[in-house]
Amino acid sequence: MPINNRSGGRIAVIQVINKQGGGVFNDDDENLLKSLASQMAIAIENAQLIDELKLSFESSMRTLSATVDARHHLTAGHSERVTEYSMMIARSMGIGPEERELIKYAGLLHDIGKIGTKDTVLLKSGQFTAAERMEMEMHAVRTKEILDNFHFSKALIQVPFIASHHHERFDGSGYPDRLRGEDIPLCSRILAVADVFDALTSARDYPKYTETETMSYNPMPLPKVLRILENGAGNQFDPAVAAAFLGCMADALLKYRGEHFSPTYVDETIEILRRAGLLI
Ligand SMILES: [Fe+2]
Ligand SMILES: [Fe+2]
Repeated sequence: MPINNRSGGRIAVIQVINKQGGGVFNDDDENLLKSLASQMAIAIENAQLIDELKLSFESSMRTLSATVDARHHLTAGHSERVTEYSMMIARSMGIGPEERELIKYAGLLHDIGKIGTKDTVLLKSGQFTAAERMEMEMHAVRTKEILDNFHFSKALIQVPFIASHHHERFDGSGYPDRLRGEDIPLCSRILAVADVFDALTSARDYPKYTETETMSYNPMPLPKVLRILENGAGNQFDPAVAAAFLGCMADALLKYRGEHFSPTYVDETIEILRRAGLLI
């Protein structure tokens, strides 16, 4: 029995064999099968439409995300990597699929507010003045403003709030709202760790520095990254999230070995992690 879609195209067939109780299939059987086939056609078509909608939504979000990152050659791929790292953390913390979807879209779109950041600030090489820093930090609020205009499904309704709080700090000294501890959504606390890790391990236009020393524009050597993550646990970062990320850092590096990360950087780092007992 063919299963046809609305335009008459065949999308599946049903095969019935060995009638229960023996004998041949009659007209009643055929009519029953026909009505079953038309119900199945509707169900299959609906499922295909939903899949297509999901795909088209996801690809629009990925394209938007890449558009913002492409404004500066050094941030190309940033949001994609932040999303990947965040998903790794979420999985290792046992976070379920619904929240992981939130993290995926909030990760892809977290810096979309940078679309409104002035070129003179976004493309500046060197440290920011106080006014430039303020303009840069505005991107978190702009992310919320832009995403509030989107129609997100019920399941993704929290994406704008989560995305715009990726620069909050666990001790309440972050921005834009100085949220503290568990007032910061868990998904934003995860993005915060992934975001800082990507900024530190990527070449950037501003020199990376600690309180005591100014360092280069290049990716930060891993021992320093580790120190920042460990020292930041409890003040900058949620300690549980920072610990979870230390556990998946090797996977994060291996995922982009030879692409974003040089093979030497990854191999040396993994050796350091192994010696520090952070590899299983
Ligand atoms: Fe940001
Ligand atoms: Fe970011």
